[in-house]
Amino acid sequence: MNLEVNLTINNQDHSVNCSPGTSLLSLLRENNFCGVHRVCEAGDCGACTVWVDEVSVHSCLYPALRSQGKSITTIEGLAEAGKLTPLQESFLEHQGFQCGFCTPGMIMSASKLTWENEAELRLALKGNLCRCTGYQTIIDSILGRELKLLTSEFVGEQIGKSIPKQDGVAIVTGEAVYTGDFVPPGLLHLRVLRSPHPHARIIKIHTENAKILPGVHAVLTHEDIVRRPYTTAGHADPVPDPLDHYLLDNKVRFVGDRVAAVVAESVAIANFACELIEVDYEILPHVIDPIVAMSGESVVIHDEPDSTGICDRQHNLAGQINLIAGDVQRGFQEAYLIVENAYDLPPVQHAHLEPHISISWLDEIGNVVVRSSTQVPFHCQRILSEIFDLPRENIRVFKANMGGGFGNKQEILTEDLCVLATLKTGRPVQWEMSRQEEFTCTNSRHAMTINLKTGVKQDGTLVAIEMVATANTGAYGNHGQTVVFLTGYIPLGLYRCPHKSYQGWAVYTNTMPAGAFRGYGATQGTFAMECQLDEIANKLGLDPLELRQKNIIKPGDILKLGRSDDHFNLIGSYALDECFAKVKAAMKSSLDSSSDNLESTHKKGIGYAVSMQGSGLSKIHLAKAKLSLEKNGKFLLRTGAVDVGTGSDTSLRQVTAEVLGVGIEEIEIVTADTANTPFDAGSYASATMYISGQAVKLAAEKLRELLTTIPEFNGTNYKEIAPQNLSLSAESEYAAEESTLTFAVQGVEVLVDTQTGKVEVLRSVQAIDLGTAINPRICVGQATGGTAMGIGYALTEELLFDDQGKILNPSFRGYRIPTAADVPTMEVFLVESQDPYGPFGAKGVGEITTNCTAPAISNAVANAIGVHLRQLPMTPERVWKALY
Ligand code: FES
Ligand code: FES
Repeated sequence: MNLEVNLTINNQDHSVNCSPGTSLLSLLRENNFCGVHRVCEAGDCGACTVWVDEVSVHSCLYPALRSQGKSITTIEGLAEAGKLTPLQESFLEHQGFQCGFCTPGMIMSASKLTWENEAELRLALKGNLCRCTGYQTIIDSILGRELKLLTSEFVGEQIGKSIPKQDGVAIVTGEAVYTGDFVPPGLLHLRVLRSPHPHARIIKIHTENAKILPGVHAVLTHEDIVRRPYTTAGHADPVPDPLDHYLLDNKVRFVGDRVAAVVAESVAIANFACELIEVDYEILPHVIDPIVAMSGESVVIHDEPDSTGICDRQHNLAGQINLIAGDVQRGFQEAYLIVENAYDLPPVQHAHLEPHISISWLDEIGNVVVRSSTQVPFHCQRILSEIFDLPRENIRVFKANMGGGFGNKQEILTEDLCVLATLKTGRPVQWEMSRQEEFTCTNSRHAMTINLKTGVKQDGTLVAIEMVATANTGAYGNHGQTVVFLTGYIPLGLYRCPHKSYQGWAVYTNTMPAGAFRGYGATQGTFAMECQLDEIANKLGLDPLELRQKNIIKPGDILKLGRSDDHFNLIGSYALDECFAKVKAAMKSSLDSSSDNLESTHKKGIGYAVSMQGSGLSKIHLAKAKLSLEKNGKFLLRTGAVDVGTGSDTSLRQVTAEVLGVGIEEIEIVTADTANTPFDAGSYASATMYISGQAVKLAAEKLRELLTTIPEFNGTNYKEIAPQNLSLSAESEYAAEESTLTFAVQGVEVLVDTQTGKVEVLRSVQAIDLGTAINPRICVGQATGGTAMGIGYALTEELLFDDQGKILNPSFRGYRIPTAADVPTMEVFLVESQDPYGPFGAKGVGEITTNCTAPAISNAVANAIGVHLRQLPMTPERVWKALY
């Protein structure tokens, strides 16, 4: 039964019908106030904040019927007659956003807050979560801090300048269009019935009651599909992952696995229909411990005969890596000191605020169209074509604005069932995951146990390193093998040592799959290595930074670890020494500051870590670009590169403008659309600037070359010659021969409350050797956002499982990502070294910023309390237990 509600929204009268259970959030979005964002629907994130009679409320918790007679203000109503409020102006000026998904809520909340000082502001803002920025520019925006001018050392006319992100005005006014903000007429909604069992065979699915529910258009099970194994991982073909996943299967492998899909007129009907489906299961034994799973005495999770590429199905091994250089046993014999420890790293979630969401439909000639929040539109197109046996050219995949991804959207998780539903019903279909699904049915960072043994001489020279990593890759093997590769390859590659060995296993268990996540396995390996190096320094009485500098790789070193097809075997530019110097100098004030005034229950500590990460994947990460001079004298850049919210579209326009010698406003850009842009492997592996940027630069150089052949061209008169030269365009293609290395050094200062075990990060100083900062402000944003993510990894974040592998904390209330009050002001040094391979000397910067934070914090805690914590997160309970 629908009821009429009369209310004003942004000073306009509205009369709308809604059912009693409708939230104000849904009412507003259904009436096209899409600046109000749906993230948690539980009052935990603040993204849906609006004002009701001038008071901030979470619209997801506010019943729509209660807004009868009320005055509602949304972000769209803040600017009067197009004039931004001072706070909107300040967010724009300071770029207090990246993806912008949190921004409307931030601005609406902050507009009503009062505070005396920054600490109070950070506390007051705790109800508004941001996963991208590390809150630094958000706080600057609200405080109206004087803007620091950030420019590169290698500044050109366009590159090296902090040119504002192109979508800033749309973001601060709520006009930015994300995937779910525009729906085709006749849209149906898809929901998935998920398994309550960790491991079971489906004997029968009773769909009759669901099918006859009014409003239901289809109920789809494994009986409705052509069975083809594939991987959800968005990797270049040939994929390195096992093909072990099916659209829908007759077996479930974790609590939350897909059982059936319902397509209905509304989300509510689809959810209700899911409840009407009955399933007969044959319960199978399950395993959630990777050590047990690989023993060979346990269950076999992938016993289907048609899956391929599984390393050892009897031992549940999705993948395994063995790397060796020298003779580690001999190395240990030569060692003066050997330290050996085990490190436990938890599964953690990406927690991008925009959920996975896809909308599919058929165009006028029957082609499949998919708008999706994806990091990999071209890989998605290829996988869909394989699943449905359709020619690629009959499938178009494109994206709108994205609200973050961090690797979790390098997976094909929603597009496949949407397309199945569209093909079955002929109707447009949307699937937007709930926050609970995000936490329980997508991917996590791989949980790992890492055993690390290191031998050194008395002077700290490394002589042998042996690492063994056991990674829980969950129910499917997407990314398992490649993640586990980087776990050993990166930290062992970072240090000179004659004898090294690494063994890594990606082990299937009956838990939610693990997948790609910023840092991609290097994060876990770096934690183990950097923590152990600190212990070694302590035991030898050496300075921890000097121990690292003594052993760290130098230019000219080749990172060979027993494989001939290494992706990262090149140091292009190298400014690690300067990074060390910057961090050392900055941390001196913390070292010098006295702890005298501290309460006796509190201890301060300082810790460091170093890391490296490749830029893209050499030889296999391909990008193309097309650039043309348009009739209006502007240039149109077409690139398949994906801006996940970081601002890479702006950086790519800067590169183009620099080559052509024009202002950035002369460059228009179309991105990430398989029908309208050339191929690009997508946004992952810190590749966007290094690979796509180089492709864009090459296209611009070609076009400039072409222009010089036109007699009337004088070097600047594009607008004059454009109308006569409409076919002027250039295309390029680029796959790097080598993946140059980005480096980072980080220092942190922590305060430990020895009575409660609570750790507070007081300072973070990070120096990043990033080649050239094409857009310094965007690069700093990557660093602050990556550091905040690292603080969460270190101190609070962990997906908790029960003995069935069921996740126990699937919400932002139970799974705590850092708030503004949990992170310090972060100091970031962009150390530039002009890489010889990247465009204008740039290297990848997307992932490196996360790797150092957790080990630096662990080392700082050890420095404070004398106990090394080797398990993350370092919760108060764990710290306290370590103390007593
Ligand atoms: S969506 Fe309302 S608080 Fe998160
Ligand atoms: S900018 Fe805050 S969540 Fe992306």
